[in-house]
Amino acid sequence: MLKPRSVVHRLPSYHPPLGGRQGLRLDFNENTVGCSPRVLERVRNMGLEELARYPEREPVEAIVAQHFGVKPQELLLTNGVDEAIHLICQTYLEGDDEVLLVVPTFAMYEIFASATGARIRKIPAGKKFSFPTEAVMHNLTPRTRLIALANPNNPTGASVSMDDILLLARSAPDAAILIDEAYYEFHGETALRRWSDCPNLFVARTFSKAYGLAGLRAGLLMGGAIAMEAVRKVASPYSVNAVALACLPEALSDRDYVEGYVREVCAGRPRLQEELDRLGIPFWPSRANFVLLYMGAANSAFIRGMRERGILVRDRSRDPGCEGCVRITLGSREQTNQLLAALRDVVAGLRNPRQEVHP
Ligand SMILES: Cc1ncc(COP(=O)(O)O)c(C=O)c1O
Repeated sequence: MLKPRSVVHRLPSYHPPLGGRQGLRLDFNENTVGCSPRVLERVRNMGLEELARYPEREPVEAIVAQHFGVKPQELLLTNGVDEAIHLICQTYLEGDDEVLLVVPTFAMYEIFASATGARIRKIPAGKKFSFPTEAVMHNLTPRTRLIALANPNNPTGASVSMDDILLLARSAPDAAILIDEAYYEFHGETALRRWSDCPNLFVARTFSKAYGLAGLRAGLLMGGAIAMEAVRKVASPYSVNAVALACLPEALSDRDYVEGYVREVCAGRPRLQEELDRLGIPFWPSRANFVLLYMGAANSAFIRGMRERGILVRDRSRDPGCEGCVRITLGSREQTNQLLAALRDVVAGLRNPRQEVHP
């Protein structure tokens, strides 16, 4: 009888709740207004030839590399950051290796790393979900082969300082250090090019968030040329499709679009945080395009109430240390107005003593 490898057999299934997402999508940290019109125009103009041919990644990689100020050998276009994480795991992990993850964090690190058979050591985040640098250092062993961290982190919005990142990279020279900068545009600090001092350092970026192209599946893995040469060996030459390749130069060329969107999102962040303060709802200050807040036992009622007002938010209760937590993505100015109005309304309803609130 055909059986999956035992590590795969033990893996839990991961099914993000993508069904029934009608309404204002503040649940998946996507761009909430859509991509640059230049990208749509390019899709409309695609010809038969472009779809009939196998996609050629390298010419677009050269354009993207120039945009990010790295050499083409230092960059690989991927099918989203998800594929970048998968490739790092495939390149660097073996069965008896160890992976350090600070939790809560993005789910795919554990899934892809576990599937290699490597052992996952989970380290709880520090106070207020801060990055526990000392604890991570303490857990380094000669077998540590991967430390993956999102900066800023999902779902907490917390960031790690560049000094701490470099300290880790220098302290674990035999481990790949993957800095997932999926939310870079909302944060503004990067480990890009630091691989000149730390050849074990990798940076991942995505077009799924600020650029509004989650459906295209396009991301980037960047690192030193030698390290990237190894990663390239396990990558499919065609994992980034022709539509994505056609669109990426357009997406990058429309800087005004992305900058305008990021500006609106970042302006919404303090507005949401101030409103939460005013309503007495605890939250964790965020450097990303979302905020994690604590609703406690009223969590489900809150999420339901928001949905009834046409706004989707994400329950993060099952993440380690996040019981009773909800994550809300920020969008345009108008969407933030809509969010704040619904938030006040739903919270007022929850506090109505005549209304029963069940967790
Ligand atoms: C930290 C982090 N990394 C990566 C991703 C996924 O990126 P992509 O759509 O490029 O695969 C997400 C999506 O939520 C994320 O939060």
